[in-house]
Amino acid sequence: PVLDASAFQEAGYWSYDPGFKVTAPVESKITYIDGGKGELLHRGYPIDQLAKNAEYLEVCYALLHGDLPNQEQKDDFYKKVGKHTAVHDQLRKFFEGFRRDAHPMAIMVGVVGALSAFYHEGLDVSEELHREITAIRLIAKMPTLAAMSYKYSQGEPFMYPRNDFNYAENFLYMMFATPADVDYKVNPVIAKAMDRIFTLHADHEQNASTSTVRLAGSTGANPYACIAAGIAALWGPSHGGANEAVLKMLDEIGTVENVPEFMEKVKRREVKLMGFGHRVYKNFDPRAQVMKETCDEVLEALGIDDPKLELAMKLEQIALEDPYFIERKLYPNVDFYSGIILKAIGIPTSMFTVIFSLARAAGWISHWLEMHSAPFSIGRPRQLYTGETRRDFVNIEDRK
Ligand code: ACO
Repeated sequence: PVLDASAFQEAGYWSYDPGFKVTAPVESKITYIDGGKGELLHRGYPIDQLAKNAEYLEVCYALLHGDLPNQEQKDDFYKKVGKHTAVHDQLRKFFEGFRRDAHPMAIMVGVVGALSAFYHEGLDVSEELHREITAIRLIAKMPTLAAMSYKYSQGEPFMYPRNDFNYAENFLYMMFATPADVDYKVNPVIAKAMDRIFTLHADHEQNASTSTVRLAGSTGANPYACIAAGIAALWGPSHGGANEAVLKMLDEIGTVENVPEFMEKVKRREVKLMGFGHRVYKNFDPRAQVMKETCDEVLEALGIDDPKLELAMKLEQIALEDPYFIERKLYPNVDFYSGIILKAIGIPTSMFTVIFSLARAAGWISHWLEMHSAPFSIGRPRQLYTGETRRDFVNIEDRK
């Protein structure tokens, strides 16, 4: 049942809901989740069907425009995205201001926010055309900026985007090719897995980072600044940072023999089992199922026999049988498997959350556009004040 808060407001009430567990601040037509059934739909289409049959950019189009594109719309959209993949030369200089060992997410927060200093039409949020071109620019430039943040950390030259490659191939090319690789070929298995990872992360309704983008946007702030705020929110280990944290956890556990001892630590609440649990999914995360299948496909195709996978499977098996996890409805989420695939295809751990942000940018900007398509209020939650009651000022010589 849904209660409309306006009646409460008129009666002088407000609700106390830490973590927004029962509060919906928006209406949206983009993504539907049924946590009990483990269902995730984008514009009505089930995530497993999209991940298996559609290209990520088609999913982006659906998130932005309400439905999957027909052939003509697809060609036009891909052409527009391809036209905007390069970044302004001055923006390249921003990278040099960072230390080489900076976390690439720290760089992303800075350089994506800095896009507003280059593409000024983004500052005029009242014009629909300006808002649309901003969405295209963002989706087009995220892979370029993400790959640049990696190249910078490696001390290698940046690679210009290649628009004869598809979206995922181009990202992998900018990540791994060097100027000496004149005839660089992208492994199609890896490119397909990458594209699927993008799709599985494209949107997830009002999660912490999307809510951050909406809240920042509700002030009329420019979209690049809003997306930078979303990237900052995503970085935390309870959210997008979990994929990096899963791999760190597997490293820490080391071998299968250490799993029972680690699980005891989890139950003593000394550590969390990273990649497990979700605020909304209480039976299974449908993205995790597709991710697991993709993980198997990639490891088999690349002939990788990763002991980390065995370790991950052991954790999963114990967690699914143990009453502690069953009672709390804790199941593997999308990030449990994505890290294993990303590692298998040679992506360094520090880039995991960057890749999540690259993919989620489509969802963030779709929500930002949806918000701007109708009148909206500034997001302004209330608080439950627990501080001092009114008291008179005390001169410094009389203070204790
Ligand atoms: N490991 C062990 N125990 C857990 C875990 C976990 N991963 N997650 C929740 N619990 C326990 C809590 O300790 C709590 O137990 P208690 O009732 O005995 O105190 C109970 O399960 C309920 O947990 P909450 O924190 O209330 O659940 P919430 O919905 O607030 O948290 C969250 C969801 C943040 C995702 C949490 O499960 C978590 O931190 N998971 C690990 C991090 C992670 O994988 N994040 C990725 C989420 S998916 C994404 O962003 C793409």
